[in-house]
Amino acid sequence: MASVPSLASSVDQRVADALASALPEAGAADPMLRRSDRADFQANGILALAKKAKANPRELATSVVESIPTGGDTDVIKEIEVSGPGFLNITVSDKAIIETLAARAADDRLGVPLAADPGTTVIDYAQPNVAKEMHVGHLRSAVIGAAMVEILEFTGEKVIRRHHIGDWGTQFGMLIQYLLEHPHELDHKSEQEVSGEEAMSNLNRLYKASRALFDSDEEFKTRARARVVDLQAGDPETLALWQRFVDESKIYFYSVFNKLDMDIQDPDVVGESGYNDMLVETCELLEKSGVAVRSNGALCVFFDDVKGQDGNPTPLIVQKSDGGFGYAATDLSAIRNRVGELGATTLIYVVDARQSLHFKMVFETARRAGWLNEDTKAVQLAFGTVLGKDGKPFKTREGETVRLVDLLDEAVERATTVVREKDENRGLLTEQEIVENGLQVGIGAVKYADLSTSAARDYKFDLDQMVSLTGDTSVYLQYAYARIRSILRNAGDRSPVAHPELELAPAERALGLHLDGFGALIEEAASEYAPHKVAAYLYQLASLFTTFYTECPVVKPEPELVVGENRLFLCELTARTLGKGMALLGIRTPEKL
Ligand code: ARG
Repeated sequence: MASVPSLASSVDQRVADALASALPEAGAADPMLRRSDRADFQANGILALAKKAKANPRELATSVVESIPTGGDTDVIKEIEVSGPGFLNITVSDKAIIETLAARAADDRLGVPLAADPGTTVIDYAQPNVAKEMHVGHLRSAVIGAAMVEILEFTGEKVIRRHHIGDWGTQFGMLIQYLLEHPHELDHKSEQEVSGEEAMSNLNRLYKASRALFDSDEEFKTRARARVVDLQAGDPETLALWQRFVDESKIYFYSVFNKLDMDIQDPDVVGESGYNDMLVETCELLEKSGVAVRSNGALCVFFDDVKGQDGNPTPLIVQKSDGGFGYAATDLSAIRNRVGELGATTLIYVVDARQSLHFKMVFETARRAGWLNEDTKAVQLAFGTVLGKDGKPFKTREGETVRLVDLLDEAVERATTVVREKDENRGLLTEQEIVENGLQVGIGAVKYADLSTSAARDYKFDLDQMVSLTGDTSVYLQYAYARIRSILRNAGDRSPVAHPELELAPAERALGLHLDGFGALIEEAASEYAPHKVAAYLYQLASLFTTFYTECPVVKPEPELVVGENRLFLCELTARTLGKGMALLGIRTPEKL
């Protein structure tokens, strides 16, 4: 494992050093280096610096330029010139590009550095609710959360996954009481495992039947309410029945996660019930410290800046006046557990933006109570709403929430058609490969559509667009990957070899410089919790590759041996970078497509 400094960082360092010696009184100076159209990079930092030191920016820029050696065989910078009022235009040498890329290629991690000071992040994502169908909101949390897990782990962060499933609450009184009175309702007919679909339909049936009884039969209602008390008191028989609901739901959850090609491990599923034993103590601690106060019998935390429409403060209710604990008490207890027991330095919650007020209040409460301090960060990675083609929250024609499984099945079906049609006059794939690719393309399409816009924004669920072969889609990226793999397979006796002595064409330089930016991109996506930046990077990579492949013959018409080898080297590094980036997003890249 050898981390490779990017050309941007080497250039930045050189310019910063030159600036520091030209203007020692300014101290450490940021050259503000950016990729540029005019040259490879532009540094804009001199203007501000000159202003601060009351120096002439052009003169300062000129003296910086004069002190930087260029054009020599070992110089990274080939050319540097002053432009405009004091910008620097910088071009790096072709040799430096290929040498750096060769160092990346020689490393399993593609030269991407590990974080200097990694911590422990507990990430709360993929948290469906027991006895309920999963919908597109659960898709977003799962997909964004899984990508963040991969990105953070790749930087060396210790990541602990927590699937905070909704497995506790008053609704279970009704369900458990019903099951108690109809004991065979969840018996499985055969020894064979039930499918996720069957499990969900069992739960739906039970839910409907118990609801109907609850609404029509006062005596059942009374028994159901008493059952909630038994559940909270930990009555063994009640708990055993509750467990059956959880188990049945897990069969369903795992089947959906499996369809999503996501690996969810049982020990990481710690639902709301997992914090039940802490709730009383959490409330006591809050009350004793004065963070929470009794108001009309309820235990509340107040905030100056959280008010309802009537102007009265809206408190966070930790314990209701009837003694019941809600969502907030559980989340506060979970923070104590995650920081105190699991050693988290960062807490991430991948949850719908509509719960932002809840998390704001929960985090603030935890800070007041001292459960979060300067060394612990808590963030909600809030995501927007999934919209239908009409721009309204995604619903079926009947106005019901769309079942996630139906969407996934449809995506796979459409993707399979796309793959099949594309292969029709090539005959490259077997039927089995078409089916497998259809799965990977369909699920990839759904994930990519979710990950390619910034999480906070709403997006339209449009399957036609998602499986389109052109534009910013995963299919486009998957085809780019497969095409490169096929180029490499068909390269005959030529192999990918880096040749730093060659002069590069503009499309090769553009591709090379972008490849070199992979490490900085990962760092940015990890520290900003922004998987969409990985998606944008990959899309640009595929586009740059397309231009390169059009302008620079790799195999035919056959270029000179070394040129061909060097281009194959660029192809190979592009494929590896694409493959790695897609893997971080949880998207597969078939070798043949
Ligand atoms: N189960 C909740 C829902 O479906 C999301 C849970 C979010 N996580 C948390 N720690 N509150 O909306």
